[in-house]
Amino acid sequence: MGSTTPPSATPAPSADQFPPANSPSLILTRPTNAERRQTWSLTHPMWGPALSHDDYLQREAYLTTVPLAKDGGVTHWILTEASQPPDGRPILSSCETLRKRVLCVRPGANGGVVEEGLAHAIGSVFTDPKFRGRGYASRMMREVGSSLRGWQVKGKGEGDAEEEGGVLFSVLYSDIGKTFYAKTGWVPFESSHAAFPPVPGAVSGLEPQDGYRGALARPIGYHELAELCNVDERLLRAALVKRVEEYQKQGKTTTCVALLPDLDVLLWHMMREDFVTKHIFGRTPAVKGAVYGEPGRRVWAVWTRGYYGGLEQIKGNTLHVLRVVVEDEEQLDEYLTEGFRAIVQIAQAEATEWRSQDVQMWNPTPRLRSIIEKSGLEYEHVDRDNDSIASLMWYGEGDASGLDWVANEKYGWC
Ligand SMILES: CC(C)(COP(=O)(O)OP(=O)(O)OC[C@H]1O[C@@H](n2cnc3c(N)ncnc32)[C@H](O)[C@@H]1OP(=O)(O)O)[C@@H](O)C(=O)NCCC(=O)NCCS
Repeated sequence: MGSTTPPSATPAPSADQFPPANSPSLILTRPTNAERRQTWSLTHPMWGPALSHDDYLQREAYLTTVPLAKDGGVTHWILTEASQPPDGRPILSSCETLRKRVLCVRPGANGGVVEEGLAHAIGSVFTDPKFRGRGYASRMMREVGSSLRGWQVKGKGEGDAEEEGGVLFSVLYSDIGKTFYAKTGWVPFESSHAAFPPVPGAVSGLEPQDGYRGALARPIGYHELAELCNVDERLLRAALVKRVEEYQKQGKTTTCVALLPDLDVLLWHMMREDFVTKHIFGRTPAVKGAVYGEPGRRVWAVWTRGYYGGLEQIKGNTLHVLRVVVEDEEQLDEYLTEGFRAIVQIAQAEATEWRSQDVQMWNPTPRLRSIIEKSGLEYEHVDRDNDSIASLMWYGEGDASGLDWVANEKYGWC
């Protein structure tokens, strides 16, 4: 599947025609449909090489209609010249943002005080090669950072949501290291993962088409996600409160924040995955994760498959664990280790089945890291310094670097 990217729609201006990045004539605004398609055409070689140009454009349009993004949940942004008409103006830089629910727990007089609010996750930051190196992306990010602070907070306007706390922060996942976005206010946070190799027949020779019958863990299907997300949200809320109170006992006033791993967030990833796998493999995966144990003491992981290499090359194809949940932290290590191993083995078998280079699990907690170690599974711990650097701009008082970003896992990515 080669790229059929058309040439950029507007010719490059001569050097003296480039507006300076600090010019008051530049504005941050929303693109027209045609302008959106123009940016998608340009980003196809970079972010859609596993799809044809037309399929990629279709995927991007489809991704405006799925949970989380639909009804104004996604916003597309461009930096352009205010004086020029829509569809006739240069797109100097572009990006998109997805609105997400978040929790923030602050230390209070009687323990942790929970606030529910919104965050916007920024993705697809892109400057047409002919406009690069002139400060346009930096200017756009400065404007996006401050615009998001009040974006979609009250009323019932375009895609608005009524939430208690307004926009508490914004996040992004930098693929260009830790410096560029830090300069415009997004502070880099821990960005590591455990990488497990794909293992054919990892589940004692059981095949996915048999539903892994007889395995210690069992696959999770779409129909189970809603209940799991509800439990996860309740547990995460309690975990954040507990954590803030533990900080308080140590005399610290740390605020804890988390993006909520709710059903819409998972569905956004999984419907994206379905679109891509349907186009690459002609079918969609039924196994959305795996769970071990009975309700009350379950351990589970949910995942999605991402493709940059497609069928032609395995490099760039990853089975991403979106979220790992331990329902009862009081369980013994032996129990959790057996459950974790059984879950990862299903992921490894699925990674083989779906042509993925590895299984990645972002920022495992210290407890989980020790469980991984005890599991005896082959794995590598990777501290990323260039790709998917989780970064956060804080809209509250103080500095983002003083925050504890809990559950900083792949589900937050976009
Ligand atoms: C990254 C990108 C958006 C920058 O756009 P731009 O309009 O040229 O950005 P600016 O002119 O404001 O800033 C350029 C800075 O970006 C840095 N930069 C660009 N590409 C980079 C990369 N791959 N790694 C690290 N830094 C990079 C430049 O070194 C320069 O740094 P400086 O300000 O210290 O000189 C653009 O190069 C692009 O679209 N790249 C391809 C898509 C991409 O990687 N997007 C980022 C996804 S997180």
